[in-house]
Amino acid sequence: MAAFDDSAFDGHERVLFCHDPLTGLKAIIAIHSTALGPAAGGTRLWSYASDDDALHDALRLSQGMSFKNAMAGLSFGGGKGVIIKTPDFSGSVAMYEKYGEFVDSLHGDYVTAEDVGMSVDTMEVIHHRTRYVAGLSRQQHKAGGDPSPKTSFGIFKGIEAAVAFKLGRDSLDGIRIAVQGVGHVGYYLCRYLHEAGARLVVADIDADRVRRVVEECGATAVSLDEVLASDVDVVAPCALGAVINERSVGSLKAPIVAGGANNQLETDADGQRLHDAGILYAPDYVINGGGIINVACEYYGEATDQEVWDQVAAIGPRLTGIFEESAATGLPTSTVADRQARQIIADAG
Ligand code: NAI
Repeated sequence: MAAFDDSAFDGHERVLFCHDPLTGLKAIIAIHSTALGPAAGGTRLWSYASDDDALHDALRLSQGMSFKNAMAGLSFGGGKGVIIKTPDFSGSVAMYEKYGEFVDSLHGDYVTAEDVGMSVDTMEVIHHRTRYVAGLSRQQHKAGGDPSPKTSFGIFKGIEAAVAFKLGRDSLDGIRIAVQGVGHVGYYLCRYLHEAGARLVVADIDADRVRRVVEECGATAVSLDEVLASDVDVVAPCALGAVINERSVGSLKAPIVAGGANNQLETDADGQRLHDAGILYAPDYVINGGGIINVACEYYGEATDQEVWDQVAAIGPRLTGIFEESAATGLPTSTVADRQARQIIADAG
């Protein structure tokens, strides 16, 4: 593996390769930066075509976490763990405990939490061996638990900010919004949007999830192929990454892209493409920061649930600042956000 030559290598501070022959654990923990605080970012369980792919993912995602945490105003650097789902993967308690020991060996430089393939239960098992874990069961009136409702609330505030900036409207009443993916994040987002009077168009590969938002939020179901190109005011990708790309930008009719999915842009050039097309893009790692704000408050244990909601609501004004800087400089919003994040990290370092 050539870590230094990997295209996702960005001056990462440390990479830990975790192997335990007894339990079959194979994992990689990448610490991008601890300039702002412990490198925080979830652990992903995924089956990779090669170990190099797993390393690439850990490097890429940990840098993304540095940017996300910096832009959320948190005392967290960026890190990410990936557990490789090998063909004989056991998922045993012993294996997750071993992973917890590796996390612990970093003495708090890396703080883990849930990501794709993990759950509150697996985080509890990792917690047997290390205290450097967030995303555990929620204590009464305290931050913690499933971060999705907070993530969705942040996206809701971000959509409000984008609509105010681009369309000059101070309410979402009557605004048409297409939501791609109505799982955890998309579902709660639809509820907030519906309460605010928005008219919803939705698509998901899971018919039950679509039915739920049609019944509860009066949404109109459309096909998977149609949803991004819907004739609406806002498109909110809340399922997969890389949906904004060379092929899709030309078909977008909405003047705003603002949703919760991670890594919506397939490449950096797609931020420029949106900008050139006059489409306002709410950078994904800024608008979807509500979940990590929840995790940070849980980890540091210094905020009530209400205080967390207030911090998440600040995502709206933060995005407005990015939109204004983009308008003033002529740079895409994605570039403005990257620059701001790098500056915050450099100032701390
Ligand atoms: P989820 O798995 O609960 O929901 C994703 C939904 O997308 C599912 O209902 C799935 O059926 C649907 N889907 C998959 N492929 C699709 C397709 N081609 N077209 C339409 N729908 C499709 O995941 P969750 O937690 O809601 O996360 C959604 C996105 O938000 C992911 O990109 C995730 O990384 C990101 N995110 C989630 C956070 C959270 O707090 N859960 C925090 C920050 C980002």
